[in-house]
Amino acid sequence: MTDKLASVAEYENVFKGRVHEIAWSYYVSGSDEEITLEQNRKAYKRIRIRPRVLQDVSSCDVSASLLGQRVDIPICIAPTGCQGMAHPDAEVATAKAAEKMGTCMILSMHANKSLEMVVAKTPNGLKWLNLYAFRNRTVTLDLVRRAERSHYNGLAVTIDNPSLANCNRAHYKEDVPVYFRRTVDNHGYGHLEKYLQGYDVGPLLENGIPNDINIRDLSATWEYIDWLCSKTNLPIIVKGVLTAEDAILAVNHGASAVIVSNHGGRALDSVPATIEALPEVVRAIGDRVEVYIDGGIRNGIDVFKALALGAKAVFVGRPILYGLAHSGEEGVNNILEILKTELVRTMQFAGCRTLSDIKPSFVVHESYYAQL
Ligand SMILES: Cc1cc2nc3c(=O)[nH]c(=O)nc-3n(C[C@H](O)[C@H](O)[C@H](O)COP(=O)(O)O)c2cc1C
Repeated sequence: MTDKLASVAEYENVFKGRVHEIAWSYYVSGSDEEITLEQNRKAYKRIRIRPRVLQDVSSCDVSASLLGQRVDIPICIAPTGCQGMAHPDAEVATAKAAEKMGTCMILSMHANKSLEMVVAKTPNGLKWLNLYAFRNRTVTLDLVRRAERSHYNGLAVTIDNPSLANCNRAHYKEDVPVYFRRTVDNHGYGHLEKYLQGYDVGPLLENGIPNDINIRDLSATWEYIDWLCSKTNLPIIVKGVLTAEDAILAVNHGASAVIVSNHGGRALDSVPATIEALPEVVRAIGDRVEVYIDGGIRNGIDVFKALALGAKAVFVGRPILYGLAHSGEEGVNNILEILKTELVRTMQFAGCRTLSDIKPSFVVHESYYAQL
């Protein structure tokens, strides 16, 4: 048993001391000027809650369903790569915590543990496999078949990161690759390793940067989603939508759900905060498919705001890494417990008994009160 901390912010505060400086730089960074990274947080602070009182909140139910599968909390785990840099148990620890908390985990394409190993250790958890568009579709197809054989429940296809984003943090360009190499030597490169053998710049690195960029398909279009849908019965969840136009295309091309995401501010900088983009996506497709969100969610009040604006569930990225680095599975569990407790408390104070009680009328932009 390790010391439990009381909030995601407290876990974040000690994170730097828990991981190698280079791993820290990889995990916390955003792209370019980190405008979007910063706004992902700040935008939540611009939203006000309009609470309703005396609503009998003696019991609050936070269970939800994702594509027909029950989850105990609407707080799920976004895919984040290379969790071996945070803890030796890496994605297995994260998956165990997700299973225990009854929530969904998306296993990163860049996991240190293979998709088969994660399932072997957590056979009952709801899991989606993260995919990118690869140049060689046989690679994609092989991954899809492996996911099917291992009973993954969905495929979360990332569409917002076609190329390598630019990160200016100290250490990033020179030191991350070296450290990453060491991590891969220690923990492996999950299910991607075998496909990356034989590429000219080395099996795992592009200019020394940890990425599978060599095998990604920059020419991919929506046809890729059509093709994927035609090859599997697993639901396709499109991750990385920020506009109504793309949300409509995603659904028209077969997506079963959409995640409003800007890759945690790690892809194109200067795009909107995800909570700012959520309403237009919900307006465009919310009556056709489920819409989820990730980016900048750090407490239960943020979760409440996202649900009020139409998200069926939220996904968290970095907070999971903070917990993992602190105390492995237990740390991830604590992070999810904290967010759940905070969500329940927010619902009690706002006057909501179930998630479906959390309506858009509960939130307004701060400018609503500007006349005061
Ligand atoms: C270190 C790190 C690695 C990530 N790796 C992936 C990945 O492999 N695939 C993916 O789709 N998104 C990846 N993401 C983006 C997350 O899935 C998610 O969109 C983002 O972290 C959410 O923002 P948050 O960290 O503020 O919660 C990564 C994010 C971080 C911080």
